[in-house]
Amino acid sequence: MPALSRIPLEAVEEVGGGCLRLVCAPASIVAPVPGQFYMVRGPWEADPLLPRPFSVARFRTVEGQQVQLEFLLRIIGRGTRLLGTAQVGIELDVLGPLGIGFDDPPGDSAWLVAGGIGIAPFPALTDAIATPGRSLSLLLGARTKTEIPGFEDFEANLTGGVEIATDDGSAGFAGTVVELLASRLDESENVRPSQVYVCGPHAMMEAAAAVCAGAGIPCSVSLEAPMGCGMGTCRGCVIRTHEDTNFTVCTEGPVTDASFIWSAKSA
Ligand SMILES: Cc1cc2nc3c(=O)[nH]c(=O)nc-3n(C[C@H](O)[C@H](O)[C@H](O)COP(=O)(O)OP(=O)(O)OC[C@H]3O[C@@H](n4cnc5c(N)ncnc54)[C@H](O)[C@@H]3O)c2cc1C
Ligand code: FES
Repeated sequence: MPALSRIPLEAVEEVGGGCLRLVCAPASIVAPVPGQFYMVRGPWEADPLLPRPFSVARFRTVEGQQVQLEFLLRIIGRGTRLLGTAQVGIELDVLGPLGIGFDDPPGDSAWLVAGGIGIAPFPALTDAIATPGRSLSLLLGARTKTEIPGFEDFEANLTGGVEIATDDGSAGFAGTVVELLASRLDESENVRPSQVYVCGPHAMMEAAAAVCAGAGIPCSVSLEAPMGCGMGTCRGCVIRTHEDTNFTVCTEGPVTDASFIWSAKSA
């Protein structure tokens, strides 16, 4: 059951690539499932009026019962700027946990494909699904080297390794992260992952879903859409599926199997 909590901001840290980590103070709240999100707002006046959605990047239980939330964000507009430049100690209104999170992978190998700040839900996901004998790999894309978000704090979970792709070739694979995914799937015909998780811009997820569909690998995506309420009321986040039905991202997602949104043919 989502709840609205007022939680002090404990730290704001730079994590590389122009991204920031917001650490909330421990609070008596329900622990989320990785992939779920929160609607977050600071103590500012009416502009912006609405809270903004953020995936839980990490959470930990403190002193046996309190839960400490972390968010990763990139400054895009006014709401993210206010949060990213907020003073430690201010109180955030945090509504959640909301939506549907990630499922465990069906097998012993999963690939995580992130476009830029799309990396946000993956620390928590890997904390939950990293088990002895399971290989987790991160494919991380950015436009250029200076936009690559840091991943060092959860690298220990990434037993299958990390590969970087940059559109301009300034670091790692020269090309998009979806091209990197396609290339690695081609090369690894006999050791393919049992599940691919994707988070990033909509077009990037659609392209990654098409690659996974072509390879016959289950693909789980964390969708983005403009959100007003986060709870299925305002209809601001509704997108159309390939079956011409409505999909309410905040309540039916944000995490879903890519095949619900894009057909294998169009994806
Ligand atoms: C379920 C969910 C989880 C999310 N998790 C995270 C997260 O963990 N970290 C994070 O940084 N962001 C996350 N986002 C995106 C984040 O909510 C938006 O970046 C934020 O709402 C933008 O608010 P703003 O006031 O800064 O920008 P606005 O003033 O609302 O928008 C400024 C401009 O940027 C455009 N814009 C808005 N959002 C995006 C976007 N995502 N990408 C590119 N352009 C955009 C708008 O169209 C507008 O032109 C998530 C979104 C959803 C739906
Ligand atoms: S954000 Fe309001 S219905 Fe989804």
